[in-house]
Amino acid sequence: MAAARTPLVAGNWKMYKTEAQAEEYIQALLPRVSSVDGVEVAICVPFTDLRAMVDSARGSRVEVYAQNMHQEPEGPFTGEVSVTMLSDVGVQGVVLGHSERRACFGETDRALALKVPAALEAGLRPILCVGETESERENDDTDRKLRQQIKDDLVNVPNERLAEVTIAYEPIWAIGTGKVATAEQAQEAMAFIRALVGDRDAQAADAVRILYGGSVKPENAAELLGLADVDGALVGGASLDPRSFAQIVQAGAPNEGL
Ligand code: 13P
Repeated sequence: MAAARTPLVAGNWKMYKTEAQAEEYIQALLPRVSSVDGVEVAICVPFTDLRAMVDSARGSRVEVYAQNMHQEPEGPFTGEVSVTMLSDVGVQGVVLGHSERRACFGETDRALALKVPAALEAGLRPILCVGETESERENDDTDRKLRQQIKDDLVNVPNERLAEVTIAYEPIWAIGTGKVATAEQAQEAMAFIRALVGDRDAQAADAVRILYGGSVKPENAAELLGLADVDGALVGGASLDPRSFAQIVQAGAPNEGL
């Protein structure tokens, strides 16, 4: 019997929305999600929107996450933002290792091995993103890639804190492409990720949340979120509109679709 894991539906805005646009969004989102029970909701917003969103979401059920951070509390790292700074602003979590950061900005597993525990120690909830490219999937290399990322990125997280990390399985070929993983592909990969966590600690495997990400839309959310090892979604494009994001949140609520 699986542990009762509260689903999390998180919207990753990526590099979209000025502060004024973000304010308009949150005012439209809050009433749409205020009565949805049994699902946690987060928006992962650009640095420049963080303070305004923390202020506007205060007291609501919507949590505010950053999309990246540096692992050091301070230092000569031009253009970076530290975990201390994020805590100071009052954000609740941070996305780490998104494939766009790995591919476009040279984010390494070595850096992630430091970032994930640094986030936990500062009291932020990390969402660690993992996933295979299209050619890795075609070459039957998906398991190897997931095993390597889970092993390397979580190496410094002690077993007793593993379950505090949310893992997002985002097949790279499904991001922003409209090519969503089939239910079978998503379930298989996510069960594999849970088993990898289980190789370290059985209790953590039962409790850790694993999100699916990659072309999640209101039309496919219920099927994906209903899968046994799927504990929520990390939503890109469809999170930019408060109406479609709220529909996906609704699909993540327990009993939805039963
Ligand atoms: P899309 O939902 O736009 O495919 O993006 C997924 C993603 O990268 C979320 O982090």
